[in-house]
Amino acid sequence: MSGGGSNLQALLDELAGSSVARVTRVVASRPDAGALERARRAGVSTAVLDDPADADQVVAALGDAGLVVLAGYLRRVPPAAVARFRLRMINIHPALLPAFGGAGMYGRRVHEQVLASGMEITGATVHYVDEEYDHGPIIAQWPVPVRADDAPETLAARVLEVEHRLLPLVVTALARRASWGAPLRLFAIGSAFVTGDKLAVQLRG
Ligand code: GRF
Repeated sequence: MSGGGSNLQALLDELAGSSVARVTRVVASRPDAGALERARRAGVSTAVLDDPADADQVVAALGDAGLVVLAGYLRRVPPAAVARFRLRMINIHPALLPAFGGAGMYGRRVHEQVLASGMEITGATVHYVDEEYDHGPIIAQWPVPVRADDAPETLAARVLEVEHRLLPLVVTALARRASWGAPLRLFAIGSAFVTGDKLAVQLRG
């Protein structure tokens, strides 16, 4: 993780009482990542990569993790590390992929582009990580309506709120599965138009 760590916080909070999954370690590409402090507060072990491009180092830091979650991790994961955790490494992205993803599409820029495009719907996507940015098979998405008066910040805040609901649901669903061999695809129950501001994220496999 490299960002503010709010998605990590959502996982820590949601999985606190879970018998299905727990956060065992947090690996960051930068020593100032907000996630590190959140992990320490929760008593979770941490590591900072000296060289995030070094596959051996990344694989060693991830150790025997059953599932690797990228949340605000902005560095490219070396291909050998991607291969080692094929279908066991996921990423969360603040738009409805495959739109508004790819190299350089992160943070405020994503929401600026959504607003500039005139799209009426954006959202959050959780997907498996492959060798290309924001590209692997999609596991789950949740839509967020764009409002006429949205600025990048207001849109980002509403999408982030959805991310915090979606990511723990997906992690739990993945952890419940006996086998990791095939990609999981979860579908939303309901629609953004029905739920409006009352955020109710439910998924079915
Ligand atoms: C989130 O918007 C996530 O989708 C993107 O980076 C941001 C990370 O936020 N990949 P945080 O560090 O979890 O607060």
